Amino acid sequence: MPSARSATDRYAVRLALPRDIDAVHAMERACFSDPWSHQALAEELDRSTSFFVVAVASAESADETVVGYAIAHAAADEAEVANVAVSPGHRGQGIGAMLVRGVLDHVRAAGALDCWLEVRASNSAARRLYAQLGFDDVGVRKRYYARPEEDAIVMRRSLRGA
Ligand SMILES: CC(C)(COP(=O)(O)OP(=O)(O)OC[C@H]1O[C@@H](n2cnc3c(N)ncnc32)[C@H](O)[C@@H]1OP(=O)(O)O)[C@@H](O)C(=O)NCCC(=O)NCCS
Repeated sequence: MPSARSATDRYAVRLALPRDIDAVHAMERACFSDPWSHQALAEELDRSTSFFVVAVASAESADETVVGYAIAHAAADEAEVANVAVSPGHRGQGIGAMLVRGVLDHVRAAGALDCWLEVRASNSAARRLYAQLGFDDVGVRKRYYARPEEDAIVMRRSLRGA
């Protein structure tokens, strides 16, 4: 029987470490038609403007399996969510929301006042996740994505006073 405990009890979000990159890269390849390379993910760890978090099972089980990750960039007072994914077997438990809240906390602490992102128009799960976390649709970038070609919906969330 599934546990009634929330994702915040069962999973923890922490900053990514070099040892997480293999698992993140495997998930990236499984989730996206145009995945980031292993090297590109590893380089995110060393970038001062990058905030890279992973979700792992919480400490009580001592299970360090990575079940999701999120990457955001912050520069001056603007930020963007660059990447979010949860492993298919762990979706629908609130982990995606934990991850996005995690990177928003980091970029807000770094001084960002607004956060932007792009999402495939057909990605209703991600669009609902972002809308639930306070992002609004603010524009469309026509044919922004390849493989398959598709428009991007641009979303924005204010971090002022949040
Ligand atoms: C998008 C993604 C990260 C969501 O992760 P998740 O852990 O399943 O999301 P959560 O359980 O935290 O869900 C939070 C909210 O997102 C929305 N949502 C998540 N999955 C959904 C689905 N399959 N259908 C509709 N809404 C969905 C809901 O609003 C949900 O809130 P609710 O449970 O109160 O209804 C996950 O589906 C994923 O990894 N997709 C593939 C990669 C991807 O598309 N990344 C985004 C690129 S922009």
